[in-house]
Amino acid sequence: MIEMNSQKGFHCFKLLAFWISLTIISLVRCTPPEEHIKCSSSSSNTNCTVTNTYGSFPDRAVCRASQAMYPKTEEELVSIVANATFLKRKMKVATTTSHSIPKLMCPDGENGLVISTKFLNRTVSLDESAMTITVEPGMTLRQLINVCAKSGLTLPYSPYWWGLTVGGILGTGSHGSTLWGVGSAVHDYVVQLRIVTPASSNEGYAKVRTLRNGTDLELDAARVSLGVLGVISQVTLQLEPMFKRSLTYVARNDSDLGEQVTTFGRQHEFADFQWYPSQRKVQYRLDDRVPTDTKGDGFYDAMGFRSTPSLVVALLRSTEETEESLRDAVGRCANGAITTSLLETSRFGLTNDGSIFNKYPVVGYNNRLQSSGTCLDSPQDGLITACPWDPRIKGLYYFQTAVSISLSKVKDFIQDVQKLVSLNPMALCGVDLYNGFLMRYVTSSSAYLGKEEDGLDFDITYYRSKDPMAPRLYEDFIEEIEQMAFFKYDGLPHWGKNRNLAFVGAINKYKKVNEFLKVKQLYDPLGLFSSEWSDQILGLKDGITTMKPGCALEGLCICSQDAHCAPQKGYFCRPGKVYKDARVCTRSQS
Ligand SMILES: Cc1cc2nc3c(=O)[nH]c(=O)nc-3n(C[C@H](O)[C@H](O)[C@H](O)COP(=O)(O)OP(=O)(O)OC[C@H]3O[C@@H](n4cnc5c(N)ncnc54)[C@H](O)[C@@H]3O)c2cc1C
Ligand SMILES: *[C@@H]1O[C@H](CO)[C@@H](O)[C@H](O)[C@H]1NC(C)=O
Ligand SMILES: *[C@@H]1O[C@H](CO)[C@@H](O)[C@H](O)[C@H]1NC(C)=O
Ligand SMILES: *[C@@H]1O[C@H](CO)[C@@H](O)[C@H](O)[C@H]1NC(C)=O
Ligand SMILES: *[C@@H]1O[C@H](CO)[C@@H](O)[C@H](O)[C@H]1NC(C)=O
Ligand SMILES: *[C@@H]1O[C@H](CO)[C@@H](O)[C@H](O)[C@H]1NC(C)=O
Repeated sequence: MIEMNSQKGFHCFKLLAFWISLTIISLVRCTPPEEHIKCSSSSSNTNCTVTNTYGSFPDRAVCRASQAMYPKTEEELVSIVANATFLKRKMKVATTTSHSIPKLMCPDGENGLVISTKFLNRTVSLDESAMTITVEPGMTLRQLINVCAKSGLTLPYSPYWWGLTVGGILGTGSHGSTLWGVGSAVHDYVVQLRIVTPASSNEGYAKVRTLRNGTDLELDAARVSLGVLGVISQVTLQLEPMFKRSLTYVARNDSDLGEQVTTFGRQHEFADFQWYPSQRKVQYRLDDRVPTDTKGDGFYDAMGFRSTPSLVVALLRSTEETEESLRDAVGRCANGAITTSLLETSRFGLTNDGSIFNKYPVVGYNNRLQSSGTCLDSPQDGLITACPWDPRIKGLYYFQTAVSISLSKVKDFIQDVQKLVSLNPMALCGVDLYNGFLMRYVTSSSAYLGKEEDGLDFDITYYRSKDPMAPRLYEDFIEEIEQMAFFKYDGLPHWGKNRNLAFVGAINKYKKVNEFLKVKQLYDPLGLFSSEWSDQILGLKDGITTMKPGCALEGLCICSQDAHCAPQKGYFCRPGKVYKDARVCTRSQS
């Protein structure tokens, strides 16, 4: 008992150190994220590897490209695509941010080419009367928000993290949270887009296609393209006049969460939820537009997106690793509860004026509340501080399951999760270290690979071991929720997140997939922008999952035999506890 308490005290100390340093660290500069394309011959940019922001793909494989190119204009881009098409070379677009988890930016084969949008980050034009902006695809969300704000305009809904590019956001259908207006996905605000695609020899092997909203049906393929149609070279977005909003987080128990989610999003324009199922607690985000003369200059600098001392992150990571190796559920739950309460005390990073939090509501301009990411800030400090998941430090390393469930089914899903948690209330404490389940509203789209119906997107972040063969504490619970979401409730996976199994059969949930494939055939008949992974998720090739020892631990398969789990460590393939059709790696003595 004494030991338990002192252990709790120690956790508490470490977490406190973490949050205290997070709050003071905004004064300190951090090391910017790494280059994701690295070429062994840097003069010619040949013999390259490409990775994502976590430095690791779902199958942990290394992605190679024989060459990287950095066009500075659309003209150069056309010439690059033409030459590669002439040579029948495989191509992929890579971004400076590279934030997608799956292998979307990886070209196939020995002679693959990656085309970086690094130098395509300018504003092409801004039309104040039409309230539209035309930008190049490598522009980051942060840049976009700032440029629009300078002209008194704003993109009403956006992802919550600055470090994504416009091209990448469209590529995977990224979104913020709302059920209102045109909806939460950036791709639904596209009024025109230019895309460079392969072409026939008499067209010079490449051409620019201009797609306009309301006129060109092909735009509904290009809005969410997974990068397989060609290179988007310009995007025109519909904006609105800048507005203010008023935000309050309110904590409640989760008893009626299933009912609440179906109505709350109609009541509050920017509603979302942070759900801590093991604590039976939810933070409701009451967030609405207010008149621009409402007082307040609020700022949201989300805690998890701040630059953090590498030593503190390493300490957090070791604590998590120790809890895993000792299967210390009590310690994990204590940590989870402390994390939640510290986040709440720090108001998740909200301030009323950019420096101090006094009281709710936090009122401010949309551009200061919609998205954040101060850990992107530049000057080098040799990794004394960094984004918490930076792979160059001993950082956080995790899986992310992101699934949208239609509003008509979401209540039953939530109640199933609650049933599961009631079987072992400690089982989901691990997600509290990552601020619980983030739940955001998503909206049906005309995009062929956009959402089919209005729904609620669940972002679930959880520990991943550096050892692919290591089972995780209560992994059966999260695996069951994952399978329930995708297979019992027909959830749609976020194209830029998730473990491989999430994509099994996913494409069949899109009614317009054939229309998408027709446009792909028209734009890129040789499949030069396609890869094994894109063919697999588009249902053109098998092999999303692979059956091999330990595969279920990493989400590379759904287990069907004990060997797919870790039988030597006591984890066996068993049916789910609530969703009996699930097959999950369960710890048992037998
Ligand atoms: C910390 C963090 C926070 C996140 N927050 C959110 C969030 O709030 N909401 C949300 O929905 N998602 C979120 N995501 C997921 C993220 O939005 C997607 O993974 C997004 O696709 C990443 O954008 P990127 O610019 O890094 O593109 P990449 O991951 O590099 O590329 C994504 C795809 O787009 C293609 N592509 C990129 N540019 C072009 C182009 N010019 N032409 C054609 N194809 C192109 C690429 O080839 C690739 O297929 C988050 C991810 C992280 C790591
Ligand atoms: C390519 O780079 C790898 C390391 O990334 C190196 O091992 C290999 O020798 C290089 N190949 C050539 C042809 O330069
Ligand atoms: C494309 O090929 C032509 C002719 O081989 C060459 O002159 C040109 O530099 C190439 N362009 C690029 C961008 O590689
Ligand atoms: C555009 O990208 C270049 C290269 O990464 C960078 O130096 C420049 O600062 C960027 N422009 C803006 C406005 O961020
Ligand atoms: C695109 O066109 C459709 C149909 O014409 C219209 O309903 C929608 O509002 C337009 N989108 C934008 C962002 O203008
Ligand atoms: C949850 O909160 C409601 C009031 O918001 C209350 O009526 C109910 O008893 C609470 N349930 C539990 C289990 O605490």
